[in-house]
Amino acid sequence: MSVYRIEGGRRLEGRLTVRGAKNASLKLMAAALMAEGPTVLEAVPRITDIETMISVLQALGAQCHWLSDHVLEIDPRGLNRWEPPDRLVRRMRASVQVMGPLLAKMGRVRLTYPGGCSIGARPIDLHLEGLRALGAEVVDEGGYVEARMVQPRDAVIHLDYPSVGATENLICAAALGSGSVRILNAAQEPEVAELGRFLNRMGARVRGAGQGTVEVEGVRRLTGVRHAVIPDRIEAGTYLLAGAITRGQVEVGPVVPAHVEALVARLEAAGCQLAWAGGRGPRRREGSLALEGVEGNPVDWVILRAERRPRPLHVRTQPHPGFPTDLQPQLMAYLSLADGTSLVTETVHTARFNHVDELVRMGASIQVEGRTAVIRGVPGLTGTTVQADDLRAGAGLVLAGLAAEGTTVVEGIEHIRRGYEDLAGRLREAGAAIEEVELEEEPVPAGV
Ligand code: EPZ
Repeated sequence: MSVYRIEGGRRLEGRLTVRGAKNASLKLMAAALMAEGPTVLEAVPRITDIETMISVLQALGAQCHWLSDHVLEIDPRGLNRWEPPDRLVRRMRASVQVMGPLLAKMGRVRLTYPGGCSIGARPIDLHLEGLRALGAEVVDEGGYVEARMVQPRDAVIHLDYPSVGATENLICAAALGSGSVRILNAAQEPEVAELGRFLNRMGARVRGAGQGTVEVEGVRRLTGVRHAVIPDRIEAGTYLLAGAITRGQVEVGPVVPAHVEALVARLEAAGCQLAWAGGRGPRRREGSLALEGVEGNPVDWVILRAERRPRPLHVRTQPHPGFPTDLQPQLMAYLSLADGTSLVTETVHTARFNHVDELVRMGASIQVEGRTAVIRGVPGLTGTTVQADDLRAGAGLVLAGLAAEGTTVVEGIEHIRRGYEDLAGRLREAGAAIEEVELEEEPVPAGV
C-alpha cells in the first residue's frame, strides 16, 4: 500500500507548476470521438482518471497514444462500439461524458448506471431528460441506460440545476446533426467554456458556452484539431491553499485569473497577500473582457504570501462563479487553523464531508450540522494516520499534514492520483517534506 508521509511545519516557498485541467481534458477526449480524423491535445495531465478515459475510448474502438509527456493523440476512426465497459464506467463517473458524443456520432449509446460515489448521490436525470428533448428515446432500467436518436429535433432545454456534466453532454449531443438547441440555466464552469471553444475549432457552431444560455446548431461533420487544454484551476487553488496553510510564499501558475477569482477573494479576506506576476488578474482586467473573449484565455502566475493564522470566513460552495466545491476540503483544512469560527456550507454535492472526521483526528474542531460545517479554529494540528476517501478530501488532508506538527501519514492516495499529477513531487519542489512510501498492509486477523 502506498501512502504519503509528511513531516509538517515547513513553510512552502517557491514555484508550483499547474498542469492542464482534468475536468476539461476528460470532456475534450470524449468529444474527440465525434471528429472524422485524429485530435491532438496538449497539456493533458498524467493522472489515473485520464488513463481510465483512455481505456474507455480504446474499448470503443478509438486509438490513443501519448506523443510526448503531456501530448495525447486520439484517433476516432476505428470507433465501432457504443457501449463502454461496465467496469470502467463504475470506476470513473466521468465515463458518462461519452454519452453525448456517442449519441451524436453513432446514434446510439448504452452504459451501466454510474451510481453514487463517496461524495454523495450523483444522479444523471438531467442528462437523460435533455437527451429526450433532443429527440432520443431513452430507456433507463435494470441498472443500464440506453439512448437512441430516433427523431432529432430543435429544442429549448431548461436545466433544473446548472449541472456541469449534463450541459457538456447536451452540447456534444447537439453539435453533430441538423437540429438547433438552446440550453437555459446551463453550467458556467470554465471547463464548459473550454469544451465550446474546442468544438468550435473542430467546426461546430456553439455560442455562449460558459454562460447561462448556450446555443448549438448542429453541423454535418467535425474535424480533428490540435488544442492546448486550459490550466487546472482546482490544482492551482490547492497549491495556493498549501502556501497559505503553511504561512509561506508561493508562486502558482499558469492560471487564468478569472478562473480563480472566488478563491483569491476568500484568501484576501482571510489575510493573505496576493499579487499577479504579469500584472493581470482581477484588479487589472477592467475594460479588457471583450479582448479576453477574442484572445481566449490569457494566463498569469499568482503570488501568495501568508504570515499569520487566517481570519475566519463564511463560505458556501456554489456553481461557478461561486466558490468551487472541488476546493471545499482544502479550504476547510486551512480554516481549521483560523483565529475564530468559520462556517462552510456545501450546496453542490450531498455528502462531501469525508475529510471532517480525519481533520478532527488531527486536532481540528469541526461539527457538521446538515450541509454546514462549523469550524472552530485551533492554533495547531497534530500529525497522525488519516484516510483519504476521495480525491479532494485527500488533497485537504495533505494540506493539513503540511501544517501539522509531527508526522502525518495519508492513506488512500490512489484517490489523490486520480486528479493530481505527482502531488508529492510538486510540493517537494516548494520545500515540503512529503514522500510516497510503500507500507506493507497489516494482515486482517482470522476469525474476527
Ligand atoms: C463535475 O461533476 C466535476 N467532475 C466535479 O469534480 C465537480 O465537483 C462538479 O462538476 C461540480 O463542479 C468532472 O467534471 C469530471 P454536476 P458533475 O453534474 O458534472 C446534481 C472533482 O473532484 N445532479 O454539476 O458530475 C449532482 O448530484 C470532481 O474533480 C443531478 O441531480 O457535476 C450534484 O449534486 C468531483 N442530476 C450536482 O447536481 C443530474 O443529472 C452537481 O453535479 C446531474 C447532476
